[in-house]
Amino acid sequence: MIDGKKILFSGMQATGNLTLGNYLGALKNWLTLSDEYECFYSVVDMHSITIRQDPAELRKRARNLLTLYIAAGLDPKKNCIYYQSHVSGHAELAWILNCFTYMGELNRMTQFKDKAAKHADNINAGLFTYPVLMAADILLYQADVVPVGVDQMQHLELTRNIAERFNNIYGEVFTVPEAYIGKVGAKIMSLQDPTKKMSKSDENPNGSIYLMDDPDTIMRKCKRAVTDSEGCIRYSEKQPGIKNLIDIYSACTGKTPDETVREFDGKGYGELKPAVGEAVISLLKPLQEEYARLSKDKAFIDSVIKENAEKANYYAMKTLRKVQRKVGFPDRIRS
Ligand code: TRP
Repeated sequence: MIDGKKILFSGMQATGNLTLGNYLGALKNWLTLSDEYECFYSVVDMHSITIRQDPAELRKRARNLLTLYIAAGLDPKKNCIYYQSHVSGHAELAWILNCFTYMGELNRMTQFKDKAAKHADNINAGLFTYPVLMAADILLYQADVVPVGVDQMQHLELTRNIAERFNNIYGEVFTVPEAYIGKVGAKIMSLQDPTKKMSKSDENPNGSIYLMDDPDTIMRKCKRAVTDSEGCIRYSEKQPGIKNLIDIYSACTGKTPDETVREFDGKGYGELKPAVGEAVISLLKPLQEEYARLSKDKAFIDSVIKENAEKANYYAMKTLRKVQRKVGFPDRIRS
């Protein structure tokens, strides 16, 4: 608890450009959480180097992502928006937790298997212990809740196991975090293959709408979206392409899928597609404008980076010192 509020932690990697799927599925919902929770939103740059990165590019993307958090409406006074690498406690706690995690547990992580297969020339130890760093992120702030997608559930489950194991040995040190199950964000699928999630690492750029796409690009991608030959607008698993367009339109306009279906009753795909394009364009316009404005305000972004790193560090250190004491590291000598 911080000031009577439960603590929430989440993070995103600054690799790839964020898509409409990331926004509607995650970022947009984060906004509604900061009244209820004390929120920590990290740009997890330390996780990013488990895959080889271009340094200048990583630095740029990390700053862009942090700026985007704010442009999306997260108030950096209320939410702790910071770089993981600016708080050394993440690495220090990760080391300790590594000693409380079994090889067998990490061997079962499906994301490790996927990534190892994709990057067979660089299966480094960091990629293997990635979930332990993630556990450290969460436990360092004594987070009660963690909003994550299904792809991260296995890592969260591991985090809970590590926390419980540690607590069993040393007493109640860590809060055991729960997955945040709130109003679930819309699950947006690829425009080119509506059976696959819209992804920032999709090889086909037409499948994803990126948050910084210009209006013409957005419209073109929506018009080219893969549909079917049924020719009627129904919200059905049998028409995944149309269902996805209905979901996007609904999420952008705040309507329910039913309302959207009624609105397009008797109309064709030729009307639905540009309407989806327009809805996405108007949703993203204020975000893009705010992003452009903030990107130019170097002093402001710098101050957010500095102040929030200090805040994060303060809470991180409280946990870290307690953990270090529990495992038997000698006390520091103060003069
Ligand atoms: N592994 C997460 C992802 O790729 C990002 C992440 C790192 C994270 N640390 C976290 C998410 C802690 C939630 C909590 O999506």
